[in-house]
Amino acid sequence: MIPTPDLSHLTSKDYDLVYEPAEDTFLLLDAFETQAGVLRELQPKICLEIGSGSGCVSAFLASILGPSSLYFCTDINPYACTCTRNTGTQNKVVLDCINASFAKPLMLRLRHSVDVIVFNPPYVPTLEDEAEDAQNDHDIRGSWAGGQDGMSVTNLFLQDVETLLSSKGFFFLVALKDNDIPSIQNRMLQDHGLQSKIILQRRAGREHLFILQFERVDKAIALEG
Ligand SMILES: C[S@@+](CC[C@H](N)C(=O)[O-])C[C@H]1O[C@@H](n2cnc3c(N)ncnc32)[C@H](O)[C@@H]1O
Repeated sequence: MIPTPDLSHLTSKDYDLVYEPAEDTFLLLDAFETQAGVLRELQPKICLEIGSGSGCVSAFLASILGPSSLYFCTDINPYACTCTRNTGTQNKVVLDCINASFAKPLMLRLRHSVDVIVFNPPYVPTLEDEAEDAQNDHDIRGSWAGGQDGMSVTNLFLQDVETLLSSKGFFFLVALKDNDIPSIQNRMLQDHGLQSKIILQRRAGREHLFILQFERVDKAIALEG
């Protein structure tokens, strides 16, 4: 079993400002553990987590993959970036966190270069205004407020995934049943040529959580041929 990252440096004051790892975070960690062999075989050079919050997920990924990969993170919440960097230090890995929306400042530099992309987005269905305000205010409400169907924020990033993903890369997304998973999968396939499968799912209270893994259709064809 791969140990959960050490988060003992984070206090309840940090969690007033930054998303505290919860069931969704731990489901993502469990998914990476099931995929550890595949991820190591991939020998990723660049990993990118959107919305890294505490930094728990990227620190876990780094404990699987080691220091030969670069770990970029982004978060709109500036406190999350500080926590992510500190979590890297606490766990003896370098997590390079940029305070930005999605990967906007990195799109040109990382074009078709990222081997592992991860996003545990604000997926809770809310009023559209609430999601917009949370995105504009860059505070902890941006951790959950997902607007219509919980997909308003996620949909914006889904547009960028193919541009960032390397030819052999994987994209991991956390989603709720209420987010309409078949629709996400169809759109990514039709619009971006990314096929997907559900690699893990779990009920946690009222939430039915899923981890989706995407990869290029043409990569799968190349491997078959
Ligand atoms: C559900 S939390 C997940 C945090 C962490 N990855 C985890 O799994 O515990 C969502 C995170 O996404 C961040 N976020 C929301 N909108 C974002 C955006 N447009 N760009 C980057 N990060 C965003 C939030 O600030 C929050 O830290």
